[in-house]
Amino acid sequence: MNLAAFLFLILSFSFGHCVRRNIVLILTDDQDVELAGMTPMKKTRALIGDAGVTFLNAFAVTPLCCPSRSAILTGKYPHNHLVRNNSLNGNCSSAQWQKVMEPQVFSVYLKKHGYQTFYAGKYLNKYGHATVGGTAHVPLGWDHWHGLVGNSKYYNYTLSVNGAAEKHGDSYQKDYLTDLIANRSIEFLKSRKSHVPFFMMLSTPACHSPWTVAPRYSKSYNITKAPRHGSFNVHGKDKHWLLRQPKSPMKNTSIEFLDNVFRRRWQTLLSVDDLVEKVINELEKVKELNNTYIFYTSDHGYHTGQFSLPIDKRQLYEFDIRVPLLVRGPGIKAKQTIKEPILNIDLAPTFLNIAGYDVLQSMDGKSFLPLMDSSQNKTHWRKDFLVEYTGEGDDKTDPACPNVGPGVAECFPDCVCEDAFNNTYACVRTLSKSNLQYCEFADSESFVEVYNLTSDPHQLINIAKTVDPSLLVKMNQRLIKLESCSGNDCRLIKAEEDGFDS
Ligand SMILES: *[C@@H]1O[C@H](CO)[C@@H](O)[C@H](O)[C@H]1NC(C)=O
Ligand SMILES: *[C@@H]1O[C@H](CO)[C@@H](O)[C@H](O)[C@H]1NC(C)=O
Ligand SMILES: *[C@@H]1O[C@H](CO)[C@@H](O)[C@H](O)[C@H]1NC(C)=O
Ligand SMILES: *[C@@H]1O[C@H](CO)[C@@H](O)[C@H](O)[C@H]1NC(C)=O
Ligand SMILES: *[C@@H]1O[C@H](CO)[C@@H](O)[C@H](O)[C@H]1NC(C)=O
Ligand SMILES: *[C@@H]1O[C@H](CO)[C@@H](O)[C@H](O)[C@H]1NC(C)=O
Ligand SMILES: *[C@@H]1O[C@H](CO)[C@@H](O)[C@H](O)[C@H]1NC(C)=O
Ligand SMILES: *[C@@H]1O[C@H](CO)[C@@H](O)[C@H](O)[C@H]1NC(C)=O
Ligand SMILES: *[C@@H]1O[C@H](CO)[C@@H](O)[C@H](O)[C@H]1NC(C)=O
Ligand SMILES: *[C@@H]1O[C@H](CO)[C@@H](O)[C@H](O)[C@H]1NC(C)=O
Repeated sequence: MNLAAFLFLILSFSFGHCVRRNIVLILTDDQDVELAGMTPMKKTRALIGDAGVTFLNAFAVTPLCCPSRSAILTGKYPHNHLVRNNSLNGNCSSAQWQKVMEPQVFSVYLKKHGYQTFYAGKYLNKYGHATVGGTAHVPLGWDHWHGLVGNSKYYNYTLSVNGAAEKHGDSYQKDYLTDLIANRSIEFLKSRKSHVPFFMMLSTPACHSPWTVAPRYSKSYNITKAPRHGSFNVHGKDKHWLLRQPKSPMKNTSIEFLDNVFRRRWQTLLSVDDLVEKVINELEKVKELNNTYIFYTSDHGYHTGQFSLPIDKRQLYEFDIRVPLLVRGPGIKAKQTIKEPILNIDLAPTFLNIAGYDVLQSMDGKSFLPLMDSSQNKTHWRKDFLVEYTGEGDDKTDPACPNVGPGVAECFPDCVCEDAFNNTYACVRTLSKSNLQYCEFADSESFVEVYNLTSDPHQLINIAKTVDPSLLVKMNQRLIKLESCSGNDCRLIKAEEDGFDS
């Protein structure tokens, strides 16, 4: 043994365990928490939540795949990462994204800090598009890349495997994507360099459309229906333009459709529950489980029948912006619940914090690693935050729905539209002594929605016209600040100082 190797051995024994923690992020697609989306995840709840922390108030800062995933990757609000929608011209995996934002993704810093990085599954909806480098483009920061081309699919997809296109058919044994992600993760854990810390991101197609169920689960939840409580099949009569359009009660065909989707979402999630168990078992086998932080979350929520909208995300309400968030890891006490609001932009700063990086000033989020230490004082955590969304539309009328549009999108089933260019909004969500949401729309009515979630948890009553006008003024001022914040000023604690609780 030469001197260098000897020193390396000494160093890894003496410092190895204090700084070299591994991190795993399991990210699902479209999984809600409000409508019982975690029910099928029995093993996940036991293996991650019960072994660590279940967050009761975790949110996406924007309820659509590509902008939300871009927020997770960069730790930035959409007004700072500039990914507006799921299209290339809205910056979803665009050439400008690759040039400006990709070098700022957390994995780039982890890699610089000596981590081995592994990615498998869905990335950004337009990843792999021919005009932006195709499958040859491997995003910066990933040593082991198994990125899905395009949007979620379970069969008949293409992966970029470290830049080479790998086409898949529809063999359950060979191609079912959730299982393939699990298998590739296990292979990585077996073949990685064992003395180097790793970061793994496993991004499942479940429970996004087309909801293709693994044959082993096709009979599960066969009589399950979407929950009928809260705002199910209620007319959004005093809400913004888009929410006033759906007929209520919904058509029976819409209800049948959404019940079927609800069932299939849960069925596809059972495969994710298996993935979680497999990965945790393997971490144990390779003796890394006690040295690994495991995060489980979703890119945003989902709805099935709320306010008579059949199925989708994209709305400002709790069902679309709340996400599951479970974390276990070294030093985290088991069976904790934490109610401080955590945002998807906090994930990147938390990963960097675990790796021993100072949280970057350019990130809008904040590390929640200290919050998970049960002895820490939680008083100084944020009390409010921003949710912002740019509506998607179509310039042409959909020939299948001649009575709606142009300017709208996602009009199925039964020509009920779930999005529009003017479904563009920004909200302040406050969770302190008061539990409020204040939203402004960029539409021809400059529409305002305000909810008191203490008295109205299902957001049935818009109090914009009845609440004390001075509260509206304060919330409008706070919104203006948050909409232009960047880095540090997004992290300032507010709400109480602004008198929202008076
Ligand atoms: C796309 O991103 C680039 C660089 O980040 C920015 O200059 C541009 O304005 C963005 N486009 C949109 C539509 O926001
Ligand atoms: C996959 O593609 C083949 C060939 O086009 C087609 O026959 C099959 O139905 C597809 N399978 C799925 C699950 O979409
Ligand atoms: C994953 O691995 C399991 C166990 O080895 C195997 O039965 C299954 O067919 C594999 N699935 C895929 C999609 O690779
Ligand atoms: C649901 O599954 C159970 C158990 O497999 C079976 O007994 C029952 O007949 C099924 N019901 C329907 C409606 O398919
Ligand atoms: C719709 O479903 C309801 C409740 O199941 C039923 O009473 C009604 O007759 C159905 N309407 C039509 C048009 O099928
Ligand atoms: C993890 O467990 C192994 C035994 O399985 C032990 O040798 C090691 O010191 C533990 N590491 C930490 C960080 O607790
Ligand atoms: C936490 O800090 C606040 C403000 O500094 C203080 O008022 C409070 O007593 C502290 N709580 C605990 C449990 O130490
Ligand atoms: C996506 O955003 C771009 C830039 O703002 C816009 O031109 C385009 O129409 C949007 N796409 C959709 C489907 O709304
Ligand atoms: C929103 O856009 C639709 C479609 O272009 C239009 O019909 C409607 O009047 C707009 N509503 C508001 C309040 O801007
Ligand atoms: C919200 O509702 C709670 C419970 O009814 C009430 O105490 C509080 O004053 C309300 N807040 C506002 C701003 O209306």
